[in-house]
Amino acid sequence: MNHGAEPRTHELVVVSNRLPVDSQVGPDGAVEWTRSPGGLVTALESVLHGVDAAWVGWPGSPDLELEPFDADGIRLVPVPLADDDVARYYEGFSNGSVWPLYHDVIAVPSYHREWWERYVTVNRRFAEAAAAVARDGATVWVHDYQLQLVPRLLRELRPDLAIGFFLHIPFPPYGLFSQLPWRSQIVEGLLGADVVGFQRTGDAANFATAVRRLTPAVVRAQHRGSRIELAEPSGRRRGVLAQAFPISIDAAALEALARTPAVQARAREIRESLGADRTLLLGVDRLDYTKGIVHRLEAYGELLEDGAITVDDAALIQIAVPTRERVAAYAQLRDEVELLAGRINGDFQTLRHRAVSYHYHAYPREEMAAMFLAADVALVTSLRDGMNLVAKEYVASRFDEEGVLVLSEFTGAADELRRAVLVNPHDIAGLKEAILTAMRMPRAERRSRMRAMRRRVVEHDARRWSSDFLEALALGAAVRRAQDADAERDAGAPTRVAEVAEPLRSALEGLARRPRLLIALDFDGTLAPEVDDPAAARALPAAREAVERLIAMPGTRVALVSGRSLTDLEAVVADFPEEVLLVGSHGAEIRLEAGTSFEPLEERERAELTTLGELLGGIAARHEGVWVERKPVGFALHTRLAVEADSQAARLEATREIGAALGADVIVRDGRTTLEFAIRGTTKGEAVEHLRRITHADAVCFAGDDVTDEDAFAALGPGDVGLKSGPGDTLAEFRVPGPAEVALALQRLADAREGAPSEERPR
Ligand code: G6P
Repeated sequence: MNHGAEPRTHELVVVSNRLPVDSQVGPDGAVEWTRSPGGLVTALESVLHGVDAAWVGWPGSPDLELEPFDADGIRLVPVPLADDDVARYYEGFSNGSVWPLYHDVIAVPSYHREWWERYVTVNRRFAEAAAAVARDGATVWVHDYQLQLVPRLLRELRPDLAIGFFLHIPFPPYGLFSQLPWRSQIVEGLLGADVVGFQRTGDAANFATAVRRLTPAVVRAQHRGSRIELAEPSGRRRGVLAQAFPISIDAAALEALARTPAVQARAREIRESLGADRTLLLGVDRLDYTKGIVHRLEAYGELLEDGAITVDDAALIQIAVPTRERVAAYAQLRDEVELLAGRINGDFQTLRHRAVSYHYHAYPREEMAAMFLAADVALVTSLRDGMNLVAKEYVASRFDEEGVLVLSEFTGAADELRRAVLVNPHDIAGLKEAILTAMRMPRAERRSRMRAMRRRVVEHDARRWSSDFLEALALGAAVRRAQDADAERDAGAPTRVAEVAEPLRSALEGLARRPRLLIALDFDGTLAPEVDDPAAARALPAAREAVERLIAMPGTRVALVSGRSLTDLEAVVADFPEEVLLVGSHGAEIRLEAGTSFEPLEERERAELTTLGELLGGIAARHEGVWVERKPVGFALHTRLAVEADSQAARLEATREIGAALGADVIVRDGRTTLEFAIRGTTKGEAVEHLRRITHADAVCFAGDDVTDEDAFAALGPGDVGLKSGPGDTLAEFRVPGPAEVALALQRLADAREGAPSEERPR
């Protein structure tokens, strides 16, 4: 114990409502520890080993003040909750407001200001505890609905941290979420993270809608979620990734446990004790109204009543794990379930066989594995469930490829376990049908379904879940840090950029004297440093400032000419003056003052676009890190996040497959980190010609960095200035090392034009 000393700090800090171990205080005051309820402990076990990690959480009993201690190589940092905190923050706001609201209001949520206030206070306590044990630049991973304000609070305390948040339960549609009196604070709280993870793509989409409705942030859809761009109070821009990362279990460990002789012997014993020839149905849940236990019992009771099954052919074991017993809805549910189980037994049990074997307590892992092995059918009938790990546990235990899973389509697991017998638990007739189907399923079909589901669970296990999340977090935080560093460098030390040298300086001074000047600029790699996430790209402030100065001068027009779609370009240059002309899709789209100009697609073009989308979508799905961006007249295959082998294979497949399907109709543009396919053949050269005509320019300055900019350089004539940013072959007359020097050249052009005689310029 190190009273008064500085706390130890760690490179990874997990923050969740409960510590991985749960305390019970005995009558003599002694504390006993058991494993915590919920699947988080198992899901995180693999990442926690081998790193210097701490876990911040409540030890599970009220009024228990403990010093940090070590367990299994992890530092546990207890956050105390007084009895009153438990009532207001945990039972109140977390489990009386958020839980029912986020689970489709199956139970009616209550909203109380005292609950909310305590939720804020306790969230702050968790944030402070995490801030105190996180090393400089550490990763902090915050979990679940009890702690939705922690990401923001923590960022305020420790902007150096990489902050991730994962919501284990569903995120509701906006129609429901908007009930919450503190909806904006919750969204702001979550947006403090670099990455916000959800179970399903649908949850991530619901969150994106809430962000759009409640904040001025820019939200762009992308693979399994969206990229959110916000302006911090400091004026800095920051990106947040909101994406689905479906949680899983340690499938290998559970299978290994199920394979042990002791567990197998116990499974046989369970079967024999219930009657070896009966079909064994199993339900395992925390006793929660979201789990559809009543619906399940009703369906089973009706099957007995109809005579479709009898207690001689079937037995139902229902394990109900106690949870949140002091919350009224849970106490009522217990009464309802026990009444129903008692009635079914009263009506149908015989001296030999009980209809429902009901157990209101938790069992150790070994016993659970044995039950999974013994059960012919597992029933997961949740009315709404973030994931449901019991479904995955059942599948992982069945190394014998036996057993049938009946699974509610309202679980996150249903997105992955498509070969389960999927049910709508509200439809009692359908649920009865499904139970019979499961009981009577032929062996070959059982095995083929179980085999497919096992493949999924084994490949997408907890280790993969946590490493996918933490990788996305590391990347997100790296991009943010790079942008912050850029902004600092730009604000503090412009002198580090080399001064514009001859002969470029004279060429710029020559341009500055021309009456009507058009300055056309590529965006990525020219005004904006290239970053991993295209949505996060921003022009250097010095470049934007130069553009603002230039555009305010008479006879001076500025255009941004990009391969991005116009909408996309508008999003990344939202901070530029409105007078800037925008050209998107390599010239296919133009935004003039009057509005957007774009010729509608013909029938043939639409069909070509569909084919392109399908082929590229398939290719991206086969290669990790490759994604497809849709544009008005084509698609870009992005490869910057893929390893070399995937990037090359994807490019090759795309060229080959699209060549075969669409041949010469398609224009291919090979960029450094993109491969683009367009059905309309405009070039940046044509765009520059067009802009020259409509602005009546006497001279053009074009700056660009990539292969597609060469068409624009080729369109320049005597008296124009072409400026290449970065390395590579070019037709441009001048070259600078990168965006910082482009910005400086634009500043010098503005300086020269301000000082140049202006009388001949039109106003
Ligand atoms: C669900 C929640 C967890 C919670 C667990 C047990 O899985 O997502 O955050 O810890 O239930 O509930 P309890 O209220 O007992 O912690």
